[in-house]
Amino acid sequence: MGKVISAHSVSADGYITGRDPRAGHGLGDGGMLFDWYFDGDTPSQVFDGFKLSEPSARVFDFLAARVGAVVAGRNTYEDSDHFGGGSPHPGAKMVLLSHRPAPEITERQTLVTTGIEDAVAKALELAEGKDVGLMGGGVLASALEAGLVDEVVLHQVPILLGEGRPFFRKLPKHVKLALVEAVPAPGVTHLRYEVRR
Ligand SMILES: NC(=O)c1ccc[n+]([C@@H]2O[C@H](COP(=O)([O-])OP(=O)(O)OC[C@H]3O[C@@H](n4cnc5c(N)ncnc54)[C@H](OP(=O)(O)O)[C@@H]3O)[C@@H](O)[C@H]2O)c1
Repeated sequence: MGKVISAHSVSADGYITGRDPRAGHGLGDGGMLFDWYFDGDTPSQVFDGFKLSEPSARVFDFLAARVGAVVAGRNTYEDSDHFGGGSPHPGAKMVLLSHRPAPEITERQTLVTTGIEDAVAKALELAEGKDVGLMGGGVLASALEAGLVDEVVLHQVPILLGEGRPFFRKLPKHVKLALVEAVPAPGVTHLRYEVRR
């Protein structure tokens, strides 16, 4: 069975967007969080059009190639224009986690309204042995609370955004992490943690 992982671009003060994220402007005024996708000479083998530095390409493709399905939170889905009716990942299925109906959902997307356990179970089934990627700070917090997460990856960008949607949320108890890998790269430091159970 695949792992459950979360990989986000995070500012040094813990935001995954800047101010005013909205449909068509998923990062608000924090677009620089994704600059490292395009600031090098090494094309991604998974995402067309991404040209990263060599160390970033190594980390990014290693993670991206493992993913067979994603669970996206409702805010991520709305701020990303519903992923155009498809998936945010070229090789992965998309599960939307929400408390409410999503009339715009397509036959290429799956809506789950019965909680994080069901969303992750559905995504693991759709991933057919590959990993499940969690998208959104809210979804990650729910999954951590339910003890469902194997790895947390921070692509930490050296900027203090000051405001935005927070990556880190209130949790009912400590979650211990073990650092697996720390890779400094131009414009970003990749920190890969395993969740201790
Ligand atoms: N920097 C990056 O790498 C990165 C990556 C992904 C996304 N983003 C951005 O980050 C923002 C993510 O927003 P976010 O962290 O606020 O939210 P999110 O996790 O995308 O969505 C949170 C929403 O998902 C639904 N949800 C979460 N857990 C649930 C559960 N256990 N059961 C049912 N529904 C549940 C709820 O929606 P309802 O109650 O409304 O149904 C909740 O309000 C977006 O603006 C996106 O563009 C950035």
